[in-house]
Amino acid sequence: MRKPIVAANWKLNKGPSETEDFIKNFITKLPDLPKGCEIVLAAPYVSLVKASELLAQSTVRVSAQNMSEHENGAYTGEISALMLKEIFVNYVILGHSERRAIYGESDETINAKILKAHGTELKPIFCIGETLEEREGGNLEKVLSQQITLGLKDVTEKEMLETVIAYEPVWAIGTGVVATPTQAQDTHEFVRSVLTDLYGIAVAEKIRIQYGGSVKPENAAELLGQKDIDGALVGGASLEPASFADIIRNGVVE
Ligand code: 13P
Repeated sequence: MRKPIVAANWKLNKGPSETEDFIKNFITKLPDLPKGCEIVLAAPYVSLVKASELLAQSTVRVSAQNMSEHENGAYTGEISALMLKEIFVNYVILGHSERRAIYGESDETINAKILKAHGTELKPIFCIGETLEEREGGNLEKVLSQQITLGLKDVTEKEMLETVIAYEPVWAIGTGVVATPTQAQDTHEFVRSVLTDLYGIAVAEKIRIQYGGSVKPENAAELLGQKDIDGALVGGASLEPASFADIIRNGVVE
């Protein structure tokens, strides 16, 4: 009942010309990919216009990788939700662990961004995840509950249905170490139980929860085959059209 959603997070890769090369190639593969999957490309800011133009006639959605919590004003270097909306961006990744760890984004800032995204009709892909130290120290549930509760403060039920959660264990990002399907499923089930406490079972059952962290064509089927895993947020393996397409092909059953 939940439509799978597979998103490419290109991070600091692909300016407009590489974006064009990728999309022109990827579009030729679309007819052979499962139709029941929502596909999203999260490009760097400067490549978003190009991506929107090239994907305007397709079902593939465009995402930003971040945005400001402010609308306008003296915030040098920032980009607003309205600016993204103006160039036909549909999604925005918020709270990625790299934003949290490298740029010091707090749960409160992420919450402000999520509220701003909804206020502008951009759909957030809200990232959560624990470090290895937190997992091994027995703090997995505490860390995730806190990220979810603070990040989603004041988000309404209706907005929640337009929110995608991405569970990305920090220790599995870019490391080649992937969570086992059981570890991932158990954690997704826990995340859904926190969402159930916050929004009730009917809403929680509709929210899509992606897994992210070293997803590859080889492990996509096993991971996405789990009951509470509704898609993937893919970094490294999304940089080549063929491997990104293979992840969708292998991971999504129709
Ligand atoms: P990798 O797929 O490179 O591990 O990155 C995951 C990620 O951070 C996606 O947002």
